[in-house]
Amino acid sequence: MNLNITGKTALVTGASSGIGAATARVLAEEGANVIVSYGKNRTGATQVTKEIEALGGKVWLHQMDICNAREVADAIQAIKPEIPGLDILISCSGQTIDTPFMEVSPIEWEQIVNVNLNGPFYVLQAARELFNEQASVVLVASVAAHTGVPHHAHYAAAKAGLVNLTKSAARALAPQVRVNCVAPGITLTPMGQRTINTIEDGYAKKKLLVQRFATPEEIARCVTFIASPLTGFMTGSTLDINGGRYLR
Ligand SMILES: NC(=O)c1ccc[n+]([C@@H]2O[C@H](COP(=O)([O-])OP(=O)(O)OC[C@H]3O[C@@H](n4cnc5c(N)ncnc54)[C@H](OP(=O)(O)O)[C@@H]3O)[C@@H](O)[C@H]2O)c1
Repeated sequence: MNLNITGKTALVTGASSGIGAATARVLAEEGANVIVSYGKNRTGATQVTKEIEALGGKVWLHQMDICNAREVADAIQAIKPEIPGLDILISCSGQTIDTPFMEVSPIEWEQIVNVNLNGPFYVLQAARELFNEQASVVLVASVAAHTGVPHHAHYAAAKAGLVNLTKSAARALAPQVRVNCVAPGITLTPMGQRTINTIEDGYAKKKLLVQRFATPEEIARCVTFIASPLTGFMTGSTLDINGGRYLR
């Protein structure tokens, strides 16, 4: 299937690792030029840019702490003269901490909500002036947005906020920009592995219809498809990619 994104320009936050790195690679495989955006992990991000270069694609490397609105605005201004506008924005940065509900401190709550909700909003708002006609945004939430998680309450609440932000942004930016969201289940990335280490043995076999965890590439392919013009009638939606963990 041709996704019709050859020569399009895509910005991926959280592209230094896991699902974001896989999405940057899949976008490049499909012919897009990719801005690889990272927070701290320059080594991981540089590796992704090398892989994209090897595919023959155009690639840029940019750093920003998405929790810092000023830094995000500056990074977007730095990107602006380098690209012919933005066709695709993937907000994939995220973080969680495994802490029992009653032990979450105000500082930890704020940090996790900053990374998973405030940051994506700062990026989306700052990127507004870069969008070309028929641009497309995909925000990466989590199945936790639907289920709640007692030891990731901040994370689940922030991801639920992202599902709702998708609707407001879709309304605000239409018809120029479509905004959609994905809600993945546990995925085999550094973050996913940390989650797996805290849950019961055999969880996937017992709780998931497909009886296994996702690979980053499986999520990345869904994200890339949703970002593509093939889903041109879809906006304000959240797609579940959870192996049957939670059926709405
Ligand atoms: N893995 C799962 O089981 C799972 C399930 C559902 C949803 N998700 C979501 O999928 C997304 C990707 O997760 P992943 O599993 O691929 O995790 P990961 O491998 O730990 O990658 C997280 C990414 O987020 C970036 N990031 C974190 N804080 C940041 C900040 N302040 N500023 C900029 N970037 C920041 C990291 O960049 P640096 O390291 O460069 O700072 C890294 O690239 C997240 O939004 C996550 O919530 C994951």
